[in-house]
Amino acid sequence: MPIHDEPADVTSFYHLAGGDPQTRHCQGTACFVARHLSPKAWEAAERAVPRVYCLGRCYEGPATDDAPSRPQIEVCAPRSIVLERVQHGTTDSLDDYRRGGGMVGLQRAAGMEPEGIVSELERSELRGRGGAGFPTGRKWRTVAAQTGIPKYVVANLDEGDPGAYIDRILAEDDPLALLEGMAIAARAVGASQGIIYVRGEYPAAITSLDSALEAARRAGWLGGRSRNEAFDIQLVIGRGSYICGEETSLLNSIEGRRPIVRVRPPYVAERGLWGQPTLVNNVETFASVPWIVRHGGAAYAAMGIPGSRGTKVLALNSLFHRPGLYEVEFGVTVRHVVETLGGGLRNGELRGVMIGGPLAGVIPPELLDTPLGFAELRAIGASVGHGGVIAFDQHTSIAELAHHVFRFAADESCGECTPCRLGARRVEHMLSAILAGRVAPGDQQLLREIVTALQDASLCGRVTGLGDFTASIFQYFPQEIASCLKSS
Ligand SMILES: Cc1cc2nc3c(=O)[nH]c(=O)nc-3n(C[C@H](O)[C@H](O)[C@H](O)COP(=O)(O)O)c2cc1C
Ligand code: SF4
Repeated sequence: MPIHDEPADVTSFYHLAGGDPQTRHCQGTACFVARHLSPKAWEAAERAVPRVYCLGRCYEGPATDDAPSRPQIEVCAPRSIVLERVQHGTTDSLDDYRRGGGMVGLQRAAGMEPEGIVSELERSELRGRGGAGFPTGRKWRTVAAQTGIPKYVVANLDEGDPGAYIDRILAEDDPLALLEGMAIAARAVGASQGIIYVRGEYPAAITSLDSALEAARRAGWLGGRSRNEAFDIQLVIGRGSYICGEETSLLNSIEGRRPIVRVRPPYVAERGLWGQPTLVNNVETFASVPWIVRHGGAAYAAMGIPGSRGTKVLALNSLFHRPGLYEVEFGVTVRHVVETLGGGLRNGELRGVMIGGPLAGVIPPELLDTPLGFAELRAIGASVGHGGVIAFDQHTSIAELAHHVFRFAADESCGECTPCRLGARRVEHMLSAILAGRVAPGDQQLLREIVTALQDASLCGRVTGLGDFTASIFQYFPQEIASCLKSS
């Protein structure tokens, strides 16, 4: 729930203003491409008001009324950074956490100068796992260099990208790792207050984090009686708005403002929450930190490929033979992920793979040998993004997929930029007409012009992703595009 009294025009921004999703049916992209597996569940999702985009159950989509099961979880990297404990189950007591190697990083950090911790992070070459891949050490150095106090550390657990359920499982099964990573970060940058902004659609993660916070406070390493005595962490629960995953929108949401995207500069590292220096990192990023401080940045950087070091957790959707969470070393090919880890598709032929959510380029089957890496995927118009892997088969046409993506984009626009607010909805309507067989002359040209306008005049990275998606379907699926737009 919000940490403030809020005006009605703020409450009205949220899809889940009442706080409860009230449905176990999900309209996220992973459920959409799997709709043929349970048409009944999909129909229920289509009827659900408000629409819920992503309950983090992409491995069993389309999500039904049944309680969520636990996904398959495997470490497929030479050394595990974040799934070591998670692959064996839930770690909910401090003793078990310690037995599993927890707290060593924080103890080590307590004996280090903040500068030493930041240098270790820089040495690791860790890049943010929330989507943009910004170098974590560089971000920490910027916040550490700010003189303003107080400073804040914020964990982004909004995980809005349909297809991803990485942060959900990390928070449910290994919440203390997130708290430890945040506590180390607080020491490194000089922060006194932490906030975890957690997706309201993840009730089990909220419960798990609540208990972990209690345990950490009782043990004295949060909230008092230790070297971290000035540092405590509070939970803020999101209420169903994709844009709140964007860091400036997220900060507005915490502050009780209407959560539209802020214009930058100033950057949040300099003036973030309540105008103070703020470190915002993703959950997987924070969860990687204890390992790095414990084993050293160089050990981390020894894994992966240049520009993409260490491991990444990938979340595979239900169309795979073996959906689930896999921790892989950067540099493995997309084919390895799809065919070896996922075991290929169980109900049809692979037509494309989306990594990093619906607002990203589609990878066609002929490019599966591309290595998993920030630059490598960028070079083919795709991205690592947040690590959700959504494969789709012949049950989904490119026009249907595009319609779904633009509807999602329109539903989740924060409304700040006119081209995004109006353009995404206009394209959705055009695609609805095209799917109904009503193709107007000039549709193709108009579609391209709207997407260009969106890209030229939009404030946030959401629209870059929409542009990548559109460019990829035009480039990689030209025959399908031509046939669905044939009379234009
Ligand atoms: C539209 C949009 C949605 C985003 N959603 C998320 C999200 O759900 N989780 C997340 O960690 N980052 C998300 N991000 C990225 C954040 O703005 C921010 O870059 C990230 O939390 C920083 O953490 P990192 O450096 O550890 O990746 C989103 C960005 C955009 C533009
Ligand atoms: S591009 Fe869309 S979602 Fe992003 S700031 Fe502009 S209106 Fe909001």
